[in-house]
Amino acid sequence: MAPRRLLLVGEGNFSFAAALSETLNASTRVTATCLQRPAELARDPVARENLQRLRERGTEVRFGVDCTQLADAFEPHHREFDRIYFNFPHCGRKAGVAKNRELLAKFFQSCKDVLAEGGEVHVALCRGQGGTPADKPMREWHNSWQVVAMAALGGFILSDVHPFSCEAVPGYKCTGYRGFLEAPSRHPIKTINEKLIAELGKAFPLKRLKCSFTLLPERSTSVLTSWNCDSLSAAFWISLCEDNSNSESLTDGITQDMEDFLVLFSEFSLKDPGRDSREEAHEGIYGQTKVCLRPSLLAHVQTVIQAPDFLPGSLHVLSGPVFQKCPILPFTMPAFHETLFILGFNKNLRDDYLQSLLDHLKGTLDSLLTQTLLEGSKLSRSVEFIFQSNEKDYIIKVKSHNFGSDCAKDLIIGSVTTSATSIIHKDQCFMFVSMNLDLLAMLVWGISDWRMLWTFDHRFLKNFVPGKIEPFKSYSLYPPCYVHDISFWLDEKKEFDELEFHTVARAVSQDTVISIQFLSRFQHPKTQQVSLCYRLTYQTCDKALTQHQVGSMQSQFRKEIQQRLHVIPR
Ligand SMILES: C[S@@+](CC[C@H](N)C(=O)[O-])C[C@H]1O[C@@H](n2cnc3c(N)ncnc32)[C@H](O)[C@@H]1O
Repeated sequence: MAPRRLLLVGEGNFSFAAALSETLNASTRVTATCLQRPAELARDPVARENLQRLRERGTEVRFGVDCTQLADAFEPHHREFDRIYFNFPHCGRKAGVAKNRELLAKFFQSCKDVLAEGGEVHVALCRGQGGTPADKPMREWHNSWQVVAMAALGGFILSDVHPFSCEAVPGYKCTGYRGFLEAPSRHPIKTINEKLIAELGKAFPLKRLKCSFTLLPERSTSVLTSWNCDSLSAAFWISLCEDNSNSESLTDGITQDMEDFLVLFSEFSLKDPGRDSREEAHEGIYGQTKVCLRPSLLAHVQTVIQAPDFLPGSLHVLSGPVFQKCPILPFTMPAFHETLFILGFNKNLRDDYLQSLLDHLKGTLDSLLTQTLLEGSKLSRSVEFIFQSNEKDYIIKVKSHNFGSDCAKDLIIGSVTTSATSIIHKDQCFMFVSMNLDLLAMLVWGISDWRMLWTFDHRFLKNFVPGKIEPFKSYSLYPPCYVHDISFWLDEKKEFDELEFHTVARAVSQDTVISIQFLSRFQHPKTQQVSLCYRLTYQTCDKALTQHQVGSMQSQFRKEIQQRLHVIPR
């Protein structure tokens, strides 16, 4: 019997192809394709890894395949596919409904040329996009991708609809962020989170919650101002311009394809359309939606405590990635994993509950933080709860002390906030413990660079045994450092935004700038113009970095700051 032939088009990082080909036997052959050229994927380590897996299995891979012109990509003797898959088609960031509809139409028309008789076309769409009654919520037809009508243009009828299940293809992750907290994983962040939750679970009944929305519409961020105004002003704001007549229904919530852009958060901040005059004009004509990458899980507190199934006395646990602009400093990260514990209890028992939670938390953290300290170690670490000025809340501080040197380092790894506001539970008081898991993991394993926690290099993960805590040994020795100074004249009319300067450096250098040092300020005696000088140090231990690469990043940085910060490089 001739083998069944499957064609995958529009692969992003080839994770679907790699995962699917591992579930198939020899009677099925896969041809995996993407629109991009090999060079465009070369910088994506996940794609590289998946392509390697596909090569090892002997799967046919083709680049530069336009799924709207499939007859051009396959010679007549190479056609006759039994199934064609296109998962989460999308024309790109700013494409609205009309463009994506056109992509679907041309794709279906082109499928006809290469499909065997009786063959099938499988398309995975995000919730609501299809516009069929099977879509929940069902979008208005004119606002949907009208999949049935687009398929009809190629002569296809819709014969089956079912929810897309990533679990059915283990390992497949639609192009975007790879969750370290998701099972199964040996990632230290996952291990530390599980240990923390298990220990606190010994003192309180637990209820684990899921919240995958990492993007917050502007209107739902007001709750954050009452908690932490700083984090909101440092959020990564994204302006989405859409042609109103064709726009995705943003009011229904955030669509999956927007979530997919998560991984590009720093790039997004560079592309904020607000600063480009052409785009300002565009905004005048078209509608604009502002969303931000959530700066804290506290944004979800009201939803949790107002839910009808909220259980006073139980610890409600929420974990996920959060994002904040911050200066480039060794223990300060623009993206990290937060776990939030929410506890509700009767107001009269406030002191008992508070004390019990703080005691358990301190015991758990102290024990985690001393696990990798060898016997006789000169280093000591302890946890302290420091009162905030409002005398109600605490910050959780880890004090590290190296005996024999004067070096003592304090790091804030979380906070405890109490509040008595809930419209529904009037007699209740609430406590929220927020923990920065990345910082905690760095301290526990002795990982000196937060960027390691986000690496895709398999040599990093190889260091860890699921559930175990053992000292970490870096796999990259003596990574080279490249130092570049930059000086520029300030725009007299604009205040210099140093945080944005760091954010641009981070984005342009793909996080390879490890420090930015202010060197000097000069005021021209005649013109009174002011110039600043900074020193950038490039270094990274999870990828090879050459002088040439750094040179081109530095010249790109000069261009970007001129455009974004209105300064004139000297
Ligand atoms: C949201 S991504 C989904 C990627 C991948 N299928 C997945 O599930 O991770 C949309 C993909 O559609 C691809 N695409 C858009 N237009 C295409 C075309 N004309 N031919 C082939 N692929 C296309 C893009 O290159 C991109 O990889």
